[in-house]
This record gives sequence, structure tokens and C-alpha cells, in this order.
Amino acid sequence: MSIIKNDFEKMNITKIKNSKNKKNLTMITAYDALFAKLFEEIADIILVGDSLNMSFAGKPDTLSATLDQMIYHTNAVCSGAPKSFVVLDMPFGTYINNDEALKNAIKVYAQTNAAAIKIEGGEDRADIVKHLTSNSIAVMGHIGLMPQYVRSEGGYKVRGKTKEDEEQLIADAIAIEKAGAFAIVIEGVMSDVAKKITQAVNIPTIGIGAGNVTDGQVLVWSDMLGFFESFKPKFVRHYLDGATLVKEAVSQYRNDVQDKSFPSIEEEY
Ligand code: KIV
Repeated sequence: MSIIKNDFEKMNITKIKNSKNKKNLTMITAYDALFAKLFEEIADIILVGDSLNMSFAGKPDTLSATLDQMIYHTNAVCSGAPKSFVVLDMPFGTYINNDEALKNAIKVYAQTNAAAIKIEGGEDRADIVKHLTSNSIAVMGHIGLMPQYVRSEGGYKVRGKTKEDEEQLIADAIAIEKAGAFAIVIEGVMSDVAKKITQAVNIPTIGIGAGNVTDGQVLVWSDMLGFFESFKPKFVRHYLDGATLVKEAVSQYRNDVQDKSFPSIEEEY
């Protein structure tokens, strides 16, 4: 019996906001049309994450992703999954002040069908979020462990381990909500703190490495499908052993080429 449900509902900002306390949101990353199409009628939201710089481009962190690359991949995702609510992750350096942020967000809206953008930051970026939302840009926030801060923070650190940090994270979420964001990603946060953050705001929180206490979850597709072999973070669940399946399939192909069992008579013109 198939576990694929036939209950797809196209998302919009209002439905996402109204999902709080009613439905757990499923978000997944995608970077190309092929995979986006596979995820289209299953996930509520597709995020074109700047994580593509690591998993797609093989770089050590997300920092060198450019806006043009994000636009290119978002167009591929929107072509593959036209019914999906697609969010473009604004790359490092593209929202350093109000003017830059708005100019770049308008470029995203002009050149893609992305429904929204995501930016990292809490209280420190609330003014920028406010400037964007008051100019009709739909913004998803991202607080907690923020990969774009990796070099300034000296690594990826789980957040919310002290009372002071807990208070800062709650203040970050409230500031981003007040600034008009429609949802907030909470990454790498102690689950008891993620729960308090989720209770402190009226917009949905979408967790990654933040326990099952948030209003939804997000995973990077290549992590959850087991294509990323270097290491498995504690918060990732492998739903497929993609790397092994692909290697076995390509090895089978090579064997068939070597012993000339591919192509067969049926596969020739
Ligand atoms: O870039 C990304 O994929 C992300 C998710 C991990 C939330 O920001």
C-alpha cells in the first residue's frame, strides 16, 4: 500500500500563518527542477536554501553563494514545481542594509516566481525585515544557529544553552514577528528553548535541529535522502540510503557495459 497521500493543498502566506496550532508544516530544500517536481505535491514549502553552495557546489560553507546563483536555482525549482510555495534563501551579503535588501528582494521577485525570501538574523535584522515587509516582500525569518554567521561565530554552535541566550532567542523571534515575517526557521536550538520560542510567537516556527516542538520541520533533501556521506548530523534522519543506491546502480551499469549486456536487442534501433 502506498504511503503517498493525495491531500496536496497549494500554500500561500495566509494558509501558512493560519496553520499554527492546526497543522505541522513540512518544508524541504530543492535546488533543481527534477527533485522539486518529486517534492511538489508532498511538501508544503520548498526552500531553495543557500545550503546548495555546500551540497550542490561542494563548498565548505554557504557564504560564497551569490544572488544570481540563487535566482538560477529558484527558477529551476519553480519550473519543476509550479504549484509549490517556493522560498528563496537570500545569500550572505545581500541584505546588509535596508536599501540593499529591498533592491535585491525586488530583483528576486522580478526574476523568479518565488513566493517569499528567507533571511537570517534576529533583533539585529528586525529593521531590515520591517523595511522588506512594509514594501510587500514576504519574509521568512531564520534564528538560532545561523550558517551565514559561521565565520564570525567561529563555527556552528547549538544555541539556547544559557538563560541569557534563551532570552535573546525569544527576543529575536518576537522582533522578527513584529517586523512582519510570516514564519521563522529555528535552527540548532535546545528543544526546551525552541518550545518557548514557538509559544512566544503567533506565526509558525519551522525547526531543524530544534526538536519536535516547533510548528513544522525542514530538512536538506540531500541529507534526508542519504546522499551526503561525509557525516550525519544528530538531527538528520535518513529516509533513504541514496548514496548506496546510486553507487550500486552505476556499478551495475558499468558491469553491463563491460560485459556488453547493455544495451540489449530490445534497447537498440
Ligand atoms: O540553506 C538552507 O538549506 C537552510 C535550511 C537548513 C533551513 O537555511
